[in-house]
Amino acid sequence: MFASSFLSLVAVYVVATLAAPTPSAASPTVQLDNATFVGTSDGTADSFLGIKFADAPRFNLPVPVGPYTGMQTVDAFGPACPQQGSNAVTTLADQLAGNPVASKLQARADVPPSEDCLNLNVYVPAGTNSTARLPVAVWIFGGGFETGSADTVDGGVIVKRSVELGEPVVYVGMNYRVSAFGFIAGQEVKAAGVGNIGLEDQRVALQWIQNWGESAGAISVALQMLTNGGDAGGLFHGAFMQSGAPIPVGDISRGQAEYDQLVQDTSCGNATDTLQCLRALPYDTLKLAVDQSPGIISEQSLRLAWLPRVDGRFLTDTPQNLVLQGSIAPIPHVSGNVNDEGTVFSLVNSMTVLDDTAFRAYMLSNYIDGATESDVGDLFDTDYPDDPTQGSPFGTGTNFSILPQYKRLAAIQGDLVFQAPRRFFVEHTYNRQPTWSFLSKRKPQSTFLAFIGAFHASDVAYNVFAPGDMTDYLVHFVNHGDPNGAGDGLIDWPQYDNNTRQQMTFVDDDDAPLVITNDTYRVDGFNKLTELSLQFPL
Ligand SMILES: *[C@@H]1O[C@H](CO)[C@@H](O)[C@H](O)[C@H]1NC(C)=O
Ligand SMILES: *[C@@H]1O[C@H](CO)[C@@H](O)[C@H](O)[C@H]1NC(C)=O
Ligand SMILES: *[C@@H]1O[C@H](CO)[C@@H](O)[C@H](O)[C@H]1NC(C)=O
Ligand SMILES: *[C@@H]1O[C@H](CO)[C@@H](O)[C@H](O)[C@H]1NC(C)=O
Ligand SMILES: *[C@@H]1O[C@H](CO)[C@@H](O)[C@H](O)[C@H]1NC(C)=O
Ligand SMILES: *[C@@H]1O[C@H](CO)[C@@H](O)[C@H](O)[C@H]1NC(C)=O
Repeated sequence: MFASSFLSLVAVYVVATLAAPTPSAASPTVQLDNATFVGTSDGTADSFLGIKFADAPRFNLPVPVGPYTGMQTVDAFGPACPQQGSNAVTTLADQLAGNPVASKLQARADVPPSEDCLNLNVYVPAGTNSTARLPVAVWIFGGGFETGSADTVDGGVIVKRSVELGEPVVYVGMNYRVSAFGFIAGQEVKAAGVGNIGLEDQRVALQWIQNWGESAGAISVALQMLTNGGDAGGLFHGAFMQSGAPIPVGDISRGQAEYDQLVQDTSCGNATDTLQCLRALPYDTLKLAVDQSPGIISEQSLRLAWLPRVDGRFLTDTPQNLVLQGSIAPIPHVSGNVNDEGTVFSLVNSMTVLDDTAFRAYMLSNYIDGATESDVGDLFDTDYPDDPTQGSPFGTGTNFSILPQYKRLAAIQGDLVFQAPRRFFVEHTYNRQPTWSFLSKRKPQSTFLAFIGAFHASDVAYNVFAPGDMTDYLVHFVNHGDPNGAGDGLIDWPQYDNNTRQQMTFVDDDDAPLVITNDTYRVDGFNKLTELSLQFPL
């Protein structure tokens, strides 16, 4: 399905340490508490799949499981969390789904999703002995906080490459709740202290990894870096973020309309405690109502119905204010973007936003709600003009103007939600902690897909899990807290700072050498977007 293929809104590796299992050719085993877990091996990586790490009571925080006892066979993926149904135009989606790279990122259909979905998958280099202390790369999947699961990518790819590089790592991918199940919002939710449930699921998985092994931990998304006053609590020591930085989200009350709609769409409208009523609904009833909420492939696009918001507990302020306050885990991080972050999110809204007037009205109502034309100034005229040669896919002249405002929407949406927040993040962290930045221009080779350029998640599809040169930088980073290392023949990746603003550029042609470019494009537009989003968060 389209929505679960490409839309990794937040793709992050976190780094931890973990004790290795006992190797065995046929069926590797690992001891957890008093239990023996039996996995499988393909000769390169031993895998332990679908290990449950927490219970997921509906609209409540996760509850860690354990201690484990007995013998458990963990040779198959566990269920994904409930996926938000798409109300999208599906023709294009189906075509993209037929693309071999896209299908690689698709959710599996053989195990139905379940609310009891908090499981994770562990891949270890085959033959690692039980005294090894290997660093761990923890993958947090994307999917616009609406869809996705840990089983859509093959962690064995990373483990195999790490062994070839002589820098072995363990790989863990965890599930977390998405859509309303993970990110229900509203005053009722805030009062009950159950905002940002999906982020709490990730945190519990990180604690599990910590407990299972020992020693230093890992990091999750940028928001995991900002919570808890920037205290990582020993859970992580590095973060590798692909297309996801502290996003400009506001108070959880901004999700009230979605909450009220959900209540109205179920039989909970007359309940005295609506949250309790939602908790008690039959799953199918609730799921049907959740699927009515606007998805990422809808006209409202990146103004997501369900996403992390300021709940006063996990997030005590807007992510960007937390950055300004220095509430940031002081760990090395890599933060990057693809060139054309906004293209896939502009296919549906550009069907109805057809001219300059509609564009202005749409931007003001959908993304900078509360702002006036005067707050916006000359942003739409000067920085994101009605001129396809300035739009995204960038640098393609008048090509790919499939609809009049498509390239313009693609440019501004990609910058507002992904590019400007990334630059803001690295500009405010490089002086506190080792910081690297990248731009990926890897594109689909097929002419059919050329109109989406170096689209959102193309780096995941064409590089990291391919594997490619970014895999090698990742493996070094997991081992050393620095993407540079030996044995790969790659160029040096300099740290980011405000004076040089150097960033690694994964060029279009993957046979061409990498280059270092300056992160100085669209400065004026980014600054204005950042100012607006500080004032008028999503
Ligand atoms: C493991 O088993 C031992 C012996 O039966 C018992 O004393 C201990 O409490 C168990 N530990 C856990 C974590 O279940
Ligand atoms: C595990 O590996 C270490 C380091 O290579 C080695 O010293 C040790 O003997 C090994 N232990 C076992 C049980 O194989
Ligand atoms: C609430 O109660 C009224 C009156 O009994 C009924 O007409 C209405 O359908 C109920 N609404 C919901 C959402 O259950
Ligand atoms: C536009 O497309 C044509 C035909 O594929 C190509 O020759 C030309 O180089 C493209 N222009 C730009 C600016 O990319
Ligand atoms: C880096 O530059 C940006 C933009 O000018 C500025 O907002 C930020 O404060 C600078 N960072 C530091 C650490 O001076
Ligand atoms: C990048 O900036 C440096 C100065 O920091 C400058 O010497 C170099 O020419 C710039 N590179 C490009 C491609 O503009």
